[in-house]
Amino acid sequence: MAINFAILGTGRVANNALAPALNQANGATLWSVLSRSRERAEAFAHRHGAAGGEKAYTDLAALLADPKLHAVFIASPDGLHCEQALAAAKAGKHVLTEKPMGTSRQACQAMVEACDEAGVRLGVAYHMRWHSGHRRIAEMAASGYFGDLRHVRVHWSWPAPDASNWRAGEEIGRWWSLAGVGTHCLDQIRWLLLPTQGEVAEMSSTIARNVFKGPRDETALLGFRFENGATAQLCSSVLWDAPKRMEVYGTRGYALLDDTLGLHGRGRIFTHEGPLQFEPCNPYVGEIEDFVAAVRENRPPEVDGEEGLRNVELLLHAVE
Ligand SMILES: NC(=O)c1ccc[n+]([C@@H]2O[C@H](COP(=O)([O-])OP(=O)(O)OC[C@H]3O[C@@H](n4cnc5c(N)ncnc54)[C@H](OP(=O)(O)O)[C@@H]3O)[C@@H](O)[C@H]2O)c1
Repeated sequence: MAINFAILGTGRVANNALAPALNQANGATLWSVLSRSRERAEAFAHRHGAAGGEKAYTDLAALLADPKLHAVFIASPDGLHCEQALAAAKAGKHVLTEKPMGTSRQACQAMVEACDEAGVRLGVAYHMRWHSGHRRIAEMAASGYFGDLRHVRVHWSWPAPDASNWRAGEEIGRWWSLAGVGTHCLDQIRWLLLPTQGEVAEMSSTIARNVFKGPRDETALLGFRFENGATAQLCSSVLWDAPKRMEVYGTRGYALLDDTLGLHGRGRIFTHEGPLQFEPCNPYVGEIEDFVAAVRENRPPEVDGEEGLRNVELLLHAVE
């Protein structure tokens, strides 16, 4: 039996990535959708072929009352994730939430506890872990192909046209560049380094907000030292367009990943031995299939609430 998902929100990621991936993933069905506007909910449900009896909702409680619904995929602004996750857990629905998981430590902790108490799964959607090239690099790093890991560097920016996006404001966002893309960079760093390097032992942060002059980070430069000595650096920004870049350095070799970060599963990867071949795939499909397997096998998803919470703690530390 497939796991029936409701998407909460009809914005960019829901429309461009999550609904198509739910339709592609094995074991998942796009069942229903929540919007603040009935028209938008109906158009979204129609466009993506939602399968529920009633499929377009403007009221979360009504959506969650559907006994055939098994899980929600939260794709609303960051500051709304917690309230929606708590309601879903209370209704006995599994929760896969977009990143960052919440905008405060307390909110993330409450999400972890509510899902634990309700006996439902909680996953955080860091889709880059299912980019097939990134998975190859993570496996190679774990097997010692690069020797002892010494440094990881990630750069991801995009040019925001103005500061009208909710991320740039005070109400439902907490970070701008860090929430848009920096949190993914941090997740990649942690994914690669935690297994051999232990936890983050020390962190530095430089935040710039002097172009749009709003309350949130426009450019963030974060530096990390891990317990076992490796270092890492991330740069996220809303101020320029450039190829996305990730670099992994070890005592026996290195990997350079060009334009692999993003919604797509493509890009180019080179190691010290030359180009690395990989089969491009839709990373959101792998993310959903892992969550479906977690529900079925009664195990935590690959990125669980605790890891989502740790990521948020570091993002908070960066700006506080
Ligand atoms: N993993 C990824 O690749 C990825 C990529 C982009 C974003 N994200 C994450 O996904 C979430 C949504 O981001 P997005 O870029 O899709 O944002 P977005 O385009 O602004 O969409 C958010 C949607 O949430 C709904 N919403 C409910 N209350 C809202 C409110 N008060 N203000 C604004 N929207 C509200 C809206 O749908 P209705 O108008 O229909 O109510 C809106 O379209 C964020 O947590 C973000 O970090 C993840």
